[in-house]
Amino acid sequence: MSTPKKILVPVDFSDCSAAALAHARVLAEKLGAKLDVLHAYDVPTFVPPHVSVMMGEIDAPLSEHAERHANEQLAIFLQDHGVTEGDGIGSRTLMGPPALTLLEAAEQGKYDMIVMGTHGRTGLSRLVMGSTAEKVVRGAHCPVLTVHA
Ligand SMILES: Nc1ncnc2c1ncn2[C@@H]1O[C@H](COP(=O)(O)OP(=O)(O)OP(=O)(O)O)[C@@H](O)[C@H]1O
Ligand SMILES: [Mg+2]
Repeated sequence: MSTPKKILVPVDFSDCSAAALAHARVLAEKLGAKLDVLHAYDVPTFVPPHVSVMMGEIDAPLSEHAERHANEQLAIFLQDHGVTEGDGIGSRTLMGPPALTLLEAAEQGKYDMIVMGTHGRTGLSRLVMGSTAEKVVRGAHCPVLTVHA
C-alpha cells in the first residue's frame, strides 16, 4: 500500500461524520494528504426535480432549492467544526442517492482512502453500521476507515 495522498470524507452532518472529519484531519496532516469533504443530497422522488417551487422569496426548480440548502448546510457544518478556508480542505455537494454517489465520486476523483462515520442521522445504533457506510465499505475501490461517534 502506498501512502494515501487524497482522502475523501463523506458527511451527513451527524456527530459521527464530524468524528470522522476530525480523524481524517489528523491523518491528512500526518500523511501530507489532500482532504475533501462531500455531502450527497437526494431530492424526493414524488416531485420531478425540475418542477418550479416557491420557497420564501425564491421561485426556482426544486433541484435548485435542494442544492442551495445542501451547500448552506455543508458550510454551516464545516464552520461549526472549525474548518476555515485557509485549511485547504475541499468541500462540495452532489445530488444523488448517497452510497452510489459517494462510490462514484471516490473512484472518479481517484481517492486513496475514504474516512466516514459508522452511523449517521437516521440509523439504528444497534446495527454494526448504517446502510450508507455498509454499501461504501462493500463497494469502494480503496480502503475505508470507519469511525464511531
Ligand atoms: N448523504 C450523505 N452524504 C455524505 N455522507 C453520508 C451521507 N449519508 C451518510 N453518510 C456517511 O455515512 C456515515 C454513516 O451513515 P449511514 O447513513 O450509513 O448511517 P445511518 O444514517 O445511521 O443509517 P441509515 O441511513 O442506514 O438509516 C455518516 O457518518 C457519513 O460519514
Ligand atoms: Mg443515513
